[in-house]
Amino acid sequence: MHKIQFTETVLRDANQSLIATRLPYDEFAPILETMDQAGYYSIECWGGATFDTCLRYLNEDPWERLRNIRKAVKNTKLQMLLRGQNILGYKHYPDDVVRTFVQRSVDNGIDVIRIFDALNDLRNIEVSVAETLKCKAVAQVAISYTTSPVHSIDNYVKLIKRIEEMGASELCIKDMAGVMSPQEAADMVKAIKENSNLRLDLHTHSTTGLAYMTLLKAVEAGVDVIDTAVSCFSGGTSQASTNTLVYALKQLGYDVDVKPEKVKVINDFFKPIQAKFLESGLLDPKVMSTDADALVYQVPGGMLSNLVSQLKAVNQMDKFDEVLAEVPRVRKDLGYPPLVTPSSQMVGVQAVQNVLAGERYKLLTSEIKGYLRGEYGTPPGDVDAELVRKVLGDEKPLTVRFADTLEPGMEAGKINAGSLARNEEDVLSYILFPPIAEAFFKQREAQEQNKVHYTITRSE
Ligand code: CO
Repeated sequence: MHKIQFTETVLRDANQSLIATRLPYDEFAPILETMDQAGYYSIECWGGATFDTCLRYLNEDPWERLRNIRKAVKNTKLQMLLRGQNILGYKHYPDDVVRTFVQRSVDNGIDVIRIFDALNDLRNIEVSVAETLKCKAVAQVAISYTTSPVHSIDNYVKLIKRIEEMGASELCIKDMAGVMSPQEAADMVKAIKENSNLRLDLHTHSTTGLAYMTLLKAVEAGVDVIDTAVSCFSGGTSQASTNTLVYALKQLGYDVDVKPEKVKVINDFFKPIQAKFLESGLLDPKVMSTDADALVYQVPGGMLSNLVSQLKAVNQMDKFDEVLAEVPRVRKDLGYPPLVTPSSQMVGVQAVQNVLAGERYKLLTSEIKGYLRGEYGTPPGDVDAELVRKVLGDEKPLTVRFADTLEPGMEAGKINAGSLARNEEDVLSYILFPPIAEAFFKQREAQEQNKVHYTITRSE
């Protein structure tokens, strides 16, 4: 039986999926050394929404968080999630910013960078992959998994071959919506393993209840690494449970390095934290349960709740069914983008507007216009020709990669951030989230002045 390795997600995806990434560093710091001894392949602890949330809500410097984790975790690989040319923001950035971000991430302690593009347009990840390899880190390329008339196993295998040619170190199937079925996992993993020797990771979510079956089928078909979360932060919109899968896979005879006694200690550590978040209401028990609606609507769970809040805000919940029926139509018109950030927001908002306006595409978001211009890359399928004509008129969509039309950004970022930024890391925080980083820098200065004042007055 082959070896199955684990990527523990409690510090990133589980944190993001269950409690909106609101876990402060100080709360998990005491368990890091134990996590280092658990036998994980890697600990996913940075990137995704952690960066934005640290600055915006936790008054934490994300770079300092990473350095602190690195100090405590000396042996296990630290992993981050990077949205290719989007870095950790919501638009495309120039290449020099992408390269500097990758360099600083590796220098501050990252070993594995999982890189993906929402549209699986490989032009949007080639710079970050090349830079990751240059920095001698692991470039794990993830394909955004979705089902549609233009997505097939053959097409995914072709994509995988191109990813291998780019020099990727590892592969990942990223099923952000948790809609990959056991049969699909078996077929996909088998096909990929027949065509590539790279280490393969399966990333899925428990949202629809398929995760355990899907992971088991993937394991049987030869997957090398699975993403799981410590059991009290597992289930629902998070990953399947580490503790449970270690138990089951060991008994089935697979070679598993993760130590059950260590993951028990880690789970015991997180239990009171989970209880605290439940009590504060930040952890809604609903997100921990199973919701199979996504299998019917083919809409990720997070997107469903966004649609509900958009409609509630304008008192039009009676239009919910109409909006749900409109989502797949908008997706088809846009050439079947996988529904992941930022395309999921784009499709959702446009579907709501189409229904509320009583006329399709009467109102258009600037994101949809950008998408049709090709600013996010090439859609997987054909975009509705009439819609393109309506929006672009005589203008032709971009044929080059959008980042090729952008001016370099590091120097301008340094100038704009001014004296508030103390190093290149600060400049990057500023380029990604200008007003939020600025507020954070100002608060940092104020706190330091208070501290100096306090020390002086106390010594007097
Ligand atoms: Co995820």
